Amino acid sequence: MKIMKNSIREQIFNLIREDILMQRLAMGEQINPREIAEENDISVMPVRDALLKLANQGLVVNRPRVGFFVKDFSVGEITNIMEVRQMYEIYCIRKHFDSIDLNIIKKLGKEVGVEFSMINREKFDRIDLKLHDSFISASGNSFLIKQYNQIKDFVILFQHLNPERMREAHLEHQKIIRLIVDNRQKSVAEVLEEHLKQVEKAVISTRKKHMKL
Ligand code: NI
Repeated sequence: MKIMKNSIREQIFNLIREDILMQRLAMGEQINPREIAEENDISVMPVRDALLKLANQGLVVNRPRVGFFVKDFSVGEITNIMEVRQMYEIYCIRKHFDSIDLNIIKKLGKEVGVEFSMINREKFDRIDLKLHDSFISASGNSFLIKQYNQIKDFVILFQHLNPERMREAHLEHQKIIRLIVDNRQKSVAEVLEEHLKQVEKAVISTRKKHMKL
């Protein structure tokens, strides 16, 4: 990819961020700023700046005199992040259920209504993010939304750690959407809690497999 000169920093930041979130760069993998600079025909400085910014956001680890690495999450960290995620989403279902945008949910309902074979990774990701975002948006609370967005990159990263779960997650999304349309708030909270628990389990099991390699 050719990088435009006017916003090199931002573009290189987005490029590396996406490589991490999509797991094209694996957890724990070393990132070589010089290599990235050469590949993109730019100087090393903006690459280093981007990596420092990513380190600040928790996606990259900067080990002085050793180099930059993709953040390798411990099981404890995964549990903690998922606890925060659950806290926000379940809270919004309990407190702001009536404000969930039903137009969005019904549209998503049509999209998840098709056979699983029609769902590719990209489509799944989009539906997943839109659905979970709709709970948070229902709060109408800009502080809460901002806080949730701070863990959003981790949510996206974890989404890509265990591709085998896509089918099950798809069925769970179908169920959640149906329950929202049927106005069954309590069941939505229960099924969502279980859904998030399964996400956590899948991420941790992938993490453990990764440790054994
Ligand atoms: Ni989901």
